[in-house]
Amino acid sequence: MLSHPNQTSDRKTALVIGANGVIGRNLIEYLTKLPDWNIIGVSRRGGESSGRVRYIPVDLLDEADTRKKLGSLTEVTHLFYAAYQDRPTWAELVPPNLAMLVNVVNSIEPIAPSLQHISLMQGYKVYGAHLGPFKTPAKESDAHHMPPEFNIDQQQFLEQRQRGQHWTWSAIRPSVVQLVDTCYFNMI
Ligand SMILES: NC(=O)c1ccc[n+]([C@@H]2O[C@H](COP(=O)([O-])OP(=O)(O)OC[C@H]3O[C@@H](n4cnc5c(N)ncnc54)[C@H](OP(=O)(O)O)[C@@H]3O)[C@@H](O)[C@H]2O)c1
Repeated sequence: MLSHPNQTSDRKTALVIGANGVIGRNLIEYLTKLPDWNIIGVSRRGGESSGRVRYIPVDLLDEADTRKKLGSLTEVTHLFYAAYQDRPTWAELVPPNLAMLVNVVNSIEPIAPSLQHISLMQGYKVYGAHLGPFKTPAKESDAHHMPPEFNIDQQQFLEQRQRGQHWTWSAIRPSVVQLVDTCYFNMI
């Protein structure tokens, strides 16, 4: 990945949002094995900080608290977004999941001059996998399925927010992700 001129060392700081989730927890475990990352994990429950990993407990639905707790993290170079709020319907998923991302980006992006990249965790629901059979191979250029779809609202927010900025963004769209040690899902 290209480095931004504001970055004074090769050391990177990952802000992992959703640090206690299936995705976030795995990511933190992976990053701690690499030599050049400091890691800040964010979720409501927080965690025990040690070594290069620091946890910050925040309710991302609380805009003021998010800004207060994240608004001084000027060292962040990479933002990995993997928080998720469940709701009973596709429509109800949109407001909380969009609000959490907006609150994070609004808190970090203006104060982190070395921000290089925002990674948005999505999934194959972007292709309508939860609605039934879908065209394969699925492509990023495929038309979006019928809204509401929180992943698309999140992506559109990021696309708009990135215009004219030096940082880049990407979205990851796997199917099912599991932890081997604590298997929450029955794959059958
Ligand atoms: N797991 C999969 O198989 C899979 C596959 C493809 C895509 N994805 C996508 O990846 C994303 C993350 O999924 P996941 O399975 O890792 O979800 P998850 O296990 O439910 O984790 C969600 C994370 O969000 C945090 N969180 C929820 N509400 C919060 C709030 N108000 N403030 C702060 N933190 C909050 C939770 O921690 P606290 O409870 O401590 O707040 C937790 O760390 C989702 O968009 C999902 O669709 C997942």
